[in-house]
Amino acid sequence: MAAACRVQSTSSNTRYVGPMSAENRYDRSNVDNMEMLYGRGFLSGGGADEVALIFDGIDLRDADVLDLGCGLGGATVAMLTRLDAKHVTGFDVDAGNLERAEELVAETGMQSRATLVEGTAGPLPFETDSFDCVYVNAVSCHLEALAEFFAEIRRVLRPEGVLVGSEWLVREDNAAFQGWDDLLRERGLSFHFVDKATFVAAAEEAGLIDVSLVDRTAAFTEFSRESLECTDTELREALLDSLGEVGFDAFRKWCEVRYVALRDRGLLQSHFRACKPNHQ
Ligand SMILES: C[S@@+](CC[C@H](N)C(=O)[O-])C[C@H]1O[C@@H](n2cnc3c(N)ncnc32)[C@H](O)[C@@H]1O
Repeated sequence: MAAACRVQSTSSNTRYVGPMSAENRYDRSNVDNMEMLYGRGFLSGGGADEVALIFDGIDLRDADVLDLGCGLGGATVAMLTRLDAKHVTGFDVDAGNLERAEELVAETGMQSRATLVEGTAGPLPFETDSFDCVYVNAVSCHLEALAEFFAEIRRVLRPEGVLVGSEWLVREDNAAFQGWDDLLRERGLSFHFVDKATFVAAAEEAGLIDVSLVDRTAAFTEFSRESLECTDTELREALLDSLGEVGFDAFRKWCEVRYVALRDRGLLQSHFRACKPNHQ
C-alpha cells in the first residue's frame, strides 16, 4: 500500500516553540503509553467521538483541513473516514509521531486524501489562504507565544474559514492546579497553560473573530478517572512490562495528579472555535 505523501518543510523560525523536551519532542515510550490510554492514533482524550463533537454542525465534505500538531494521526483519519473531509493535511514537528500517522493513514487506505508535513515550530510552511478549517488539539499548551501561533493560523485560513479544537486551560491562582504544575516542573516539563480570558484575548489579538469556548472539564474528568482505573486494572500488566515498576509508579502518579487537578477544576479542558473575517 502506498504511503501518504510526506513532505519535509524547510521553515526554521522558532519564535513560538515551547518545551516538551529541549527539541519539543515526546519521549517514545511516553507516546506508546499515552496511546494505550487514549486509543489508536490519539495523544488526547476522547478519540474519534471527541473529534466528531468538536466539529459538531460543521460540514467537511468540501473542506481542505489542516490538522495542526496531528501527532499519531488519529484525528486526521477520523476527519477523513467519519466526517468525510475532502482533504486533510497533518502537520507536526515530531518525525516519530508523523511516521506513526503515516502508518495509520496507510492502514485506513486514506493516502490519496491525506498529506503529512513535517516542519519546525514557527511560521507554518503553507501559503496564505490555504485551508477552510484548521483543527488544533492539545498543541497550544506547548507554545509560549499564543497570539503569534493564532496569527499563523489566521494567515493560512481562507476568509471565513474556521479554527476548531480543544485545549487544556487553567484557572488562575488556583491551588487545585498546583499539584499538577509541581509534578510537571519536577519532571522538567514546562507547559504554557493559560486561563480562558488569556486564550480568547490571544485569538482576538491575532485577528480571529467570533471566538467561543465550550467547557469539557466534566467529560475529561471522567476520561481521566477511567484512565486511572485502567492503569490499575486492565492496562497494569502491559504498562509494567513497558515501564518497569518505577516507571509504572511515575506514570500512575501522573494520571492521578492530573485527575485530581481536573476533578477540583484547577485544570480545565475546553473546546474552542473562531473564524477568520472575510476581509483581510
Ligand atoms: C498532546 S499531542 C496532541 C496530538 C494530536 N493533536 C492529538 O490530539 O492526538 C501534541 C502534538 O503537538 C505537536 N507539536 C508541538 N509543538 C508544535 C508546533 N509548534 N507545531 C506543530 N505541532 C507541534 C507535538 O509534536 C505533538 O504531536
